[in-house]
Amino acid sequence: MSNILPGVSPSMMCADALNLGADAVALEKAGAQYFHYDVMDGDFVPNFMLGPDVIKAVRKVSAVPADIHLMIKNPERHLHLFDLRPGDVVSVHQESTVHLQRTLAAIRQAGAQAAVALNPATPLGSIEDVLPDLDMVLVMTVNPGFAGQKLVPQTLAKITRLRSMLDEKGYSHVRIEVDGNVSFENAVKMRAAGADLFVAGTSAVFREGGIQANMVKLLDCIR
Ligand code: DX5
Ligand code: ZN
Repeated sequence: MSNILPGVSPSMMCADALNLGADAVALEKAGAQYFHYDVMDGDFVPNFMLGPDVIKAVRKVSAVPADIHLMIKNPERHLHLFDLRPGDVVSVHQESTVHLQRTLAAIRQAGAQAAVALNPATPLGSIEDVLPDLDMVLVMTVNPGFAGQKLVPQTLAKITRLRSMLDEKGYSHVRIEVDGNVSFENAVKMRAAGADLFVAGTSAVFREGGIQANMVKLLDCIR
């Protein structure tokens, strides 16, 4: 386990688009560690989502750092579009870029923390040679592209194996983020497996009960 306090990164694509500012303020008050922004290009994943201007707009009402999840092909070509701040973290998919090490180095060069995201089918061995370039690994617990999907069950064991791999190789400071069907029930299992940062979408926070009460409940499950 990394020593960092486990946290919640609410998925802004699941917030109320007509009241995004109000939702951001409420989520900050409720203790969001980051705001998770899903950027989709309609090519790497079969859907379109949030662009750089949405992140810029939210920064006007909240100082919560951005957790930018790029689900786009060749992310290195578009990094310059994002106004990155110290404390932000940017995830690129292992499957989306040929020169992964160069892309991760470019994220750090731009002043943010670097993370690699792995689809459920992508093996952990594919990131062994970039561990020095990583601050975090994002384990996709569903296939990326849509909110409201069901957990791919074998990803739980993958989190456990990743935590062991990081600790054994001297990377215990590298955090693990989980994204997809982070329900109250699944969050407990993901935490036990070694996850540190929990993307909260429709399964936990943006559902009946209200986002503030749901945030409290989810934080209870992981701390
Ligand atoms: C895609 C998104 C979704 C979603 C997560 O990367 O991050 O996984 O918003 O929330 P759920 O699965 O709970 O709707
Ligand atoms: Zn995401």
